[in-house]
Amino acid sequence: MDKYEIFKKNINNLIGINLDYYKEKQMKRRITSLMNRNGFEDFDEYFMALKSNKDMLEQFINHLTINVSEFYRNPAQWSILEKEILPELIRKNDNKPLKVWSAACSTGEEPYSLVMLLSKFYDLKDIKVLASDIDEEAIEKAKLGIYSEKALVNLPKEFKIKYFDKVGNSFKIKDIIKNQVIFDRIDLLKDPFPINIDLITCRNVMIYFTDEAKELLYDKLYRSLSKNGVLFVGSTEQIILPERYNFKTIKTFFYTKIN
Ligand SMILES: C[S@@+](CC[C@H](N)C(=O)[O-])C[C@H]1O[C@@H](n2cnc3c(N)ncnc32)[C@H](O)[C@@H]1O
Repeated sequence: MDKYEIFKKNINNLIGINLDYYKEKQMKRRITSLMNRNGFEDFDEYFMALKSNKDMLEQFINHLTINVSEFYRNPAQWSILEKEILPELIRKNDNKPLKVWSAACSTGEEPYSLVMLLSKFYDLKDIKVLASDIDEEAIEKAKLGIYSEKALVNLPKEFKIKYFDKVGNSFKIKDIIKNQVIFDRIDLLKDPFPINIDLITCRNVMIYFTDEAKELLYDKLYRSLSKNGVLFVGSTEQIILPERYNFKTIKTFFYTKIN
């Protein structure tokens, strides 16, 4: 077994992240560059260092998980969500509150965007969004809810004014939005999923997965959705032949179940 194979096994034992499910070339390149930056040339030595150095391990996890996000990422799709997907979903749900899950929420921009958007349809007190990620540090940042102005460029102005406090050069999300989000750590490739979810956003995470991991994920997402539930994916993550996984396309990037 080559050293990288052993490294992947060791990492899985140490932190429970299975790197076999991530696209090999891309992941190996990322890890090698970080390893070299830390002054190591050899995977065995690097692993020994990660095992004994908590800061280095945290940096490694951070580097792996790629947390880039922003509010209303790909705004045209959020507009379709608002104008076409949500009204239909709410109608089919007899106007009852929806169960919503942001399934790789990173530092919180996506679940908070969902709460703000849903506030156009419901009282804030009736909105609940589950937000999860594999990366606990990202979740901690999400709970803090402090963002640079850059993260807000695509967010509708009205939301920026209404739901943020300016703190120095940063923007802090108000508690009335924050309180409607429940954070949890869920590894999409390993952990059980919640059920009966009406809207799942699973965006800009599948691109890192192998085809095998994606298939596993589609199946889990299918079972997690309610009867009329909708899956919203990232702008490079269209499902090829969705029918194979019992999904049908409602709009590009939006899928529902073939029941
Ligand atoms: C690029 S961010 C996407 C954030 C947000 N969904 C968006 O579209 O802006 C990718 C996130 O996926 C998370 N991630 C990677 N592998 C994961 C896994 N196996 N389970 C859950 N989350 C994972 C990372 O920690 C990271 O926060």
